[in-house]
Amino acid sequence: MQAIIDQTINFVKITLANAETGHDWFHIERVFKTAQAINAKEKGDELIVALAALLHDIADSKFNGGDEEIGPQKAGDFLKSIGISDDIIFHVQEVIRNLSYKASLGTITFKSKELDVVQDADRLDAIGAIGIARAFTYGGYKNRVLYDPSIPVNLNMSKEEYKNTTAPTLNHFYEKLLLLKDLMKTEAGKEIAEQRHQFMLNYLEQFYGEWEGKR
Ligand code: ADP
Ligand code: NI
Repeated sequence: MQAIIDQTINFVKITLANAETGHDWFHIERVFKTAQAINAKEKGDELIVALAALLHDIADSKFNGGDEEIGPQKAGDFLKSIGISDDIIFHVQEVIRNLSYKASLGTITFKSKELDVVQDADRLDAIGAIGIARAFTYGGYKNRVLYDPSIPVNLNMSKEEYKNTTAPTLNHFYEKLLLLKDLMKTEAGKEIAEQRHQFMLNYLEQFYGEWEGKR
């Protein structure tokens, strides 16, 4: 199993060589480690968890004209090329397909413990100290302001609106980041999310205090 994982790590590193900072190799490495830590308690299939965590972001549809099938396709082609069996490939592809927050806003057709583990790990990387850093990185890339008290939070965005919003990055905390804690599927994921969530609440309190010149 280690040889397969090493080959996959190599492939992902090469594929992500020029990736933007939100989905670079280090994001994958964090998700991979967190997924393994969660799976130590969940006892899902270790190979599926490892492969899905490593391959989950090799093609971001946001940067590929919105085609959600490119990622699973690329992952499948790679796994086939190193001789992985079809049933494992299929499961890994289903995890990747169903992973994104956007997929979970639509109709979910696939369920598995391995999906829960990798999804929790991926979502955990969007909250806490690193989640905050990623949000502002993404906001900067999209030319968004940090905060604008006159622009309200919109909790009812469609998939399209969510992708194209020009709202300040602070709004994203209320539209997504602070909601992730309650979407955790695994016990270990919930525990980690609780701590990171509290950190974000403290951060926001500090932010508003500084904004008003009160801290
Ligand atoms: P994922 O890879 O978890 O499906 P995305 O690709 O949507 O998530 O986002 C990658 C990172 O960019 C996450 O940390 C997310 O919080 C952040 N991000 C996504 N949309 C926004 C937004 N509108 N404002 C600020 N950050 C965002
Ligand atoms: Ni990811």
